[in-house]
Amino acid sequence: MTIPFPADFLWGAATSAYQIEGSRTADHTGLSVWDTFTRRPGVIEGGGDGSIACDSYQRWREDVSLLTTMGLNAYRFSTGWSRVMPDGTGGANPLALDHYDRQVDALLEAGITPFVTLNHWDMPQALMTGEDDGGWLARSTAEAFAEYADAVTARLGDRVSRWITQCEPWIVQLLGYQLGLHAPGIADVARSVIAGHHVLLGHGLAAEVIAANVPDPQVGVASSLFPCVPATDTEPDRAAAHASDGYVNRWYLDPLAGKGYPTDTRELWEGVLARRGAGFTLDDVILDGDEGIIGRRLDFIGVNYYTRRVCAAASGGDFPWKVVGPTGDVARSDEGWEIAPRAFTDLLLRLDRDYDHRPLVVTENGAVFGDGPTHDGKVHDNRRIAFLRDHLEALAEAMSQGVTVLGYLHWSLLDNFEWALGYRPRFGLTYVDYRTGERIPKDSARYYGQVARTGRIPAADPAIPAFG
Ligand code: FCB
Repeated sequence: MTIPFPADFLWGAATSAYQIEGSRTADHTGLSVWDTFTRRPGVIEGGGDGSIACDSYQRWREDVSLLTTMGLNAYRFSTGWSRVMPDGTGGANPLALDHYDRQVDALLEAGITPFVTLNHWDMPQALMTGEDDGGWLARSTAEAFAEYADAVTARLGDRVSRWITQCEPWIVQLLGYQLGLHAPGIADVARSVIAGHHVLLGHGLAAEVIAANVPDPQVGVASSLFPCVPATDTEPDRAAAHASDGYVNRWYLDPLAGKGYPTDTRELWEGVLARRGAGFTLDDVILDGDEGIIGRRLDFIGVNYYTRRVCAAASGGDFPWKVVGPTGDVARSDEGWEIAPRAFTDLLLRLDRDYDHRPLVVTENGAVFGDGPTHDGKVHDNRRIAFLRDHLEALAEAMSQGVTVLGYLHWSLLDNFEWALGYRPRFGLTYVDYRTGERIPKDSARYYGQVARTGRIPAADPAIPAFG
């Protein structure tokens, strides 16, 4: 296969503020919903929280060195929402902005293009006390988010052109408001649809503000995209997979891309609201003009890809499918997720086709492999190398078929705090010793650096079996 990576392709890695920074009260940082959520007994595996994490608020220069040593030319990180807006609204915290200002300058000096995420889930706790229980359930939060976007982009927008407003609207809705497994820990299936809508509305309002502050802006959303495939080639399973695709993917992508909410998923949600006696309909939530605001600007589609969903028809619950997973002996990460690189190619081709050839950026892709240092002090994570190789080949395949992909940002630069799963799952190219903060680049970091420096995927090492 000809490897079609252009010379200006962005090779990077991704992180987020709450997952790596620690120093939760430094520089007048305000309380975030994750600071409060992690205090609830039993919600975090192993009981951890983000109070130290990778200590990156102090050690961020070392993180920049990790990127330069690898030879990467892009870095996706997030500005801490509750650091910048300690009270939710009414004035930004200049010390937090100074911090990110220094970080941006250091990245640019090192020739690294920053991708800045504005909401990677660390909402100010102060926004939880507004109307209708606050958080994303309150429409006013979309405006508070735009105020925060204004503060950050007014400060950094002269040097940063690539912005990711929201990280994974579906995951925020699902885990934060439907299942209560993430902050703020609300479990209310009916009202979760309100939260999801306000996340998208926040994107639209923020996109407008960013465009006013940033010359030549490129604004996107990092969407969690799971290809939904039928368990069997039968009509009921095909219909189940299509419905699930609406619920997971199209409900967010379609309005962001200016197409409005998809009709089939609208009907699905109306059914859920009626069955649950929610006392409201979507027309009470999605007001006239909202879809226009949401679809106003999407310069690239941010693709977070981890695995696929195998769906079978189901009845009796809120949703007419169940996720059954693949049968048989498939490759899996240490978290049990199926490793499915071919589905990645199909996803990229499909996005290109369905969303008007809009440029794509892979904003996250990665996997949990638990390898740690061995007797030689190194981390020989061959399975992550195989994962990278197979997914980069899958990406190259889509590009060779004409899909425009501007960059690939691996999740993650560092092992870090993996939300409700705590510190057990290790997603990093770099091993972190959480007792000392020491960083040890894994073998995969060297492999990935070689790809980034040469623009070529090294030929398959026969000792490392393929997943795809
Ligand atoms: C994504 C999140 C990211 C990390 C990875 C593994 O859903 O955006 O913060 O948790 O999954």
